[in-house]
Amino acid sequence: MVWIIVGYLSGSWLSSLSVCRLAGMADPRERGSCNPGFSNVLRLYGPKLAGLTLLLDAAKGMPAVLGAKALGYPVWLQGLVGLAVLLGHSYPLWHRFRGGKAVASAFGVLLILTPGVALISAAVWALSAWQLRTAAIASLLSALAAPLTCIWLDPAYVPVVGAFSLMVLARHWANLRRLRRGDEARFKHRR
Ligand code: G3P
Repeated sequence: MVWIIVGYLSGSWLSSLSVCRLAGMADPRERGSCNPGFSNVLRLYGPKLAGLTLLLDAAKGMPAVLGAKALGYPVWLQGLVGLAVLLGHSYPLWHRFRGGKAVASAFGVLLILTPGVALISAAVWALSAWQLRTAAIASLLSALAAPLTCIWLDPAYVPVVGAFSLMVLARHWANLRRLRRGDEARFKHRR
């Protein structure tokens, strides 16, 4: 139980807000897609702040999940701790429950629970984002790829990874509506 609480509270820290505030930039929840995550920070403020956001959002849930794993918790309980991190990021206690889409935090948690799945999903994300220039499509594709990869690499974690993916997919509802309307934000091509 204690690791679930630690997971939720650490997930509740939105690193993009601290990173942008320290750099003297406006709250990413008030600009662009209004999502406090790596992709919006990248489009708004460039790769340095976005990279730092990605790193911190991925890392913040790791101690809790590592704790659950090191103590030999069963897979389903490790999964609950991971889910608590994702819930914290999406509905953060510290920020009036107004959070993000949990893509980077899911990556960090997966890196501890099932690293092969995390790395393949990240590769799917990077390749899709590079080809399609749209973060949301990359996130949706990697959320679909994760449970499929898990069937092959780490079957015991399929229900856990499936739950993470459902959570990430559900958080992209607004993106899906924008994609249907054709006004989803895209990464600019480098000149
Ligand atoms: O990682 C979040 C991404 O999937 C969508 O973010 O800012 O494009 O709505 P954004």
